[in-house]
Amino acid sequence: EKGGYDHFMLKEIYEQPRSVRDCMRGRIYPQQGLVQLGGIKEYTEKLKNIDRIIIVACGTSWHAGLVGEYLIEEYARVSVEVEYASEFRYRNPIITEKDLVIAISQSGETADTMAAIELAKEKGATIFGICNVVGASIPRTTHAGVYTHAGPEIGVASTKAFTAQVTVLTLMAFYIAQQRGTITQSKLVEYLTELNEIPNLVEIALKSNDHVKKIAARFKDSTNCLFLGRGSSFPVALEGALKLKEISYIHAEGYPAAEMKHGPIALIDDEMPVVFIATKHSSYEKVISNIQEVKARKGHVIAIVTEGDTDVRAMADYVIEIPQTAEAFVPLLATIPLQLLAYHIAVMRGCNVDQPRNLAKSVTVE
Ligand code: M6R
Repeated sequence: EKGGYDHFMLKEIYEQPRSVRDCMRGRIYPQQGLVQLGGIKEYTEKLKNIDRIIIVACGTSWHAGLVGEYLIEEYARVSVEVEYASEFRYRNPIITEKDLVIAISQSGETADTMAAIELAKEKGATIFGICNVVGASIPRTTHAGVYTHAGPEIGVASTKAFTAQVTVLTLMAFYIAQQRGTITQSKLVEYLTELNEIPNLVEIALKSNDHVKKIAARFKDSTNCLFLGRGSSFPVALEGALKLKEISYIHAEGYPAAEMKHGPIALIDDEMPVVFIATKHSSYEKVISNIQEVKARKGHVIAIVTEGDTDVRAMADYVIEIPQTAEAFVPLLATIPLQLLAYHIAVMRGCNVDQPRNLAKSVTVE
């Protein structure tokens, strides 16, 4: 059942080259610069005219939503708000028929997400779902949607469902951009060609496993851990922290790297591991100065870097390389070593990684 892996979580981590590819299958045509999302095509006209998208979700799915915010705003130029379903539903939120609400849920059964959808529906909004479990309650309630096709996810800690959600949101961002004319055809060809390679690059990112395992052995007895990133790597930092805390019970927090100086920097001492997502993209120089600030306080830096990087390597305690890709696709690669790090630390601590204490795979109570 576990296909030769010790745990479902590890099996599911290793399935990601396939699950990401399955998620894109029949949906992108790189040479033509075309994205097709059959599940939402009836709403093409609506997408041309919307001024706002609200994403509602919980947990890891909410993190995927935050990545989606960066991508949709960047490429489709529509303003996006990402809300915890549990907060949204109790806030008397301002929603109209003009709004598009995107609900993200692996299980399709999360009670708070379901209630948020019902509320938005009552107010006349159009609701799209991004779900993994076919025919679950959420995809039955939404007006339209796109399945992630990641296959069954058994481990309570979400891994392949997250990367599939991010993949769907990436496709949606380009789809909406294409409809609204906010991206040129030649750029679409370029991006889709690169996106099409991502499953192969995920495969390469998985090759960091043995190296990550050694890093895990070094930090397995830590009591705290900080994860920092900027731009779309900020939600990746949040996701890295959630993975670590839920399966290893180490206290972990994710922050936008620039927020460190507004508080978390006080936590840094010679016992504190700080995981940076420091790939060579728009905030590279700024993240480097955050790394220097951590090193000046004797913190231990583990950095996810672009392959061939030398600048971060010179100052970090450990680096984990991921393949070079466009900034838009970094979340799909940077997430991989963070999943592996959490997994190995949890196993070394003797934790039940597939069934962490106090957690359920689908949270059907509010
Ligand atoms: O099934 P859903 O995507 O709606 O679930 C949302 C959260 O309960 C879920 O992502 C949870 O945070 C996971 N344990 C994260 O690994």
